[in-house]
Amino acid sequence: MSKKIVAFVGSPHTYGNISTAINQILEGAKNNKSECITYNIDKLNIGYCRGCFVCNKTGGICVIKDDMQGIIEQLKEADIVIIGSPIYICQVSAQVKTLMDRLYVLTDEKHNPLYGSKKLIMLYTYGAPIPYIFNKYIKYNGNALKYMGLKLYKNIAIYGCYERDKVKRNRTLLKKLNSLGVKISK
Ligand SMILES: Cc1cc2nc3c(=O)[nH]c(=O)nc-3n(C[C@H](O)[C@H](O)[C@H](O)COP(=O)(O)O)c2cc1C
Repeated sequence: MSKKIVAFVGSPHTYGNISTAINQILEGAKNNKSECITYNIDKLNIGYCRGCFVCNKTGGICVIKDDMQGIIEQLKEADIVIIGSPIYICQVSAQVKTLMDRLYVLTDEKHNPLYGSKKLIMLYTYGAPIPYIFNKYIKYNGNALKYMGLKLYKNIAIYGCYERDKVKRNRTLLKKLNSLGVKISK
């Protein structure tokens, strides 16, 4: 059966490292008949969560009417979710944090997922040319969305990404990302 993949680019750079890495995974997935949708968070109208808990009490209705409504409709049916974030000041970008907060609509009052379990791939890029330095944070953050039904399948961290074409120039990495896309489509 074909898989539905919803991916989020959390970098402001449309053609940067996050975008290249996500596109590469999706290429592999599309070639294996997955249905893929990519959202460039920075280019969308997504407001901050207001912390009103209305979504919690109403089974997932958010008071903010913006681009999240369409996104949530897609997420309800997704099998796999990919969230790509550049590391900004040792954490996810503000775009990704805003998205994560707004995903609160996917859980109920008892913190059970409203729309079942989906595989989550968290993909990070960062500038420092040192592997593993954000591993503690990345591990911690990977579990943050489990109550929304986004169950961590894989964390990917790509270091040394100060130049925007770093991922594009790394053929071995591109191949690995493509293979991951193939794998998750099965
Ligand atoms: C405001 C800001 C903060 C950053 N903070 C960090 C950091 O704490 N550690 C790090 O290694 N790189 C840091 N970087 C570098 C980014 O992680 C890097 O430029 C990004 O991952 C590249 O991905 P992109 O091409 O998709 O934008 C920072 C960049 C910016 C603009």
